[in-house]
Amino acid sequence: MLYSAKVMEHFANPHNVGELKDANGVGEVGNQKCGDIMKMYIKVENGIIEDVSFMTFGCGAAIATSSMATDLIKGKPLEDALKLTNKAVVEALDGLPAVKVHCSVLAEQAIKAAIADYYKRQGIDPTPIVGNLEECEACGHDHDSCSCN
Ligand code: FES
Repeated sequence: MLYSAKVMEHFANPHNVGELKDANGVGEVGNQKCGDIMKMYIKVENGIIEDVSFMTFGCGAAIATSSMATDLIKGKPLEDALKLTNKAVVEALDGLPAVKVHCSVLAEQAIKAAIADYYKRQGIDPTPIVGNLEECEACGHDHDSCSCN
């Protein structure tokens, strides 16, 4: 079997899907290679991610990783959500085929973009906290998780 049972479960029945009407942070990212898009909504209260949801125009692996990623950051402080790596999400899903690992980067980037948007709305410069989210032209990853440099 190419995909783990957990991946199939989250793909068939993704958690936290849809638009969050009262979100106070929204991030949208895309993968330049495949053209897939991910949008992440967070509702932050007192530094805690009270609610989170996502919408994606993406592949099954992107759906499964986003579903798992939203589960992992729900109810957590912003600092913890920022530390969530795509590797940790892939591990929580019992692995992904190597060719699909790049799909899991979308969820990590979308979470960071949503948190950056939240800080911006609070009048706080997100760059020192979230890092530089501008995409690397070569690989489409943000500079912090870019594998090209
Ligand atoms: Fe594009 Fe998976 S193939 S995110």
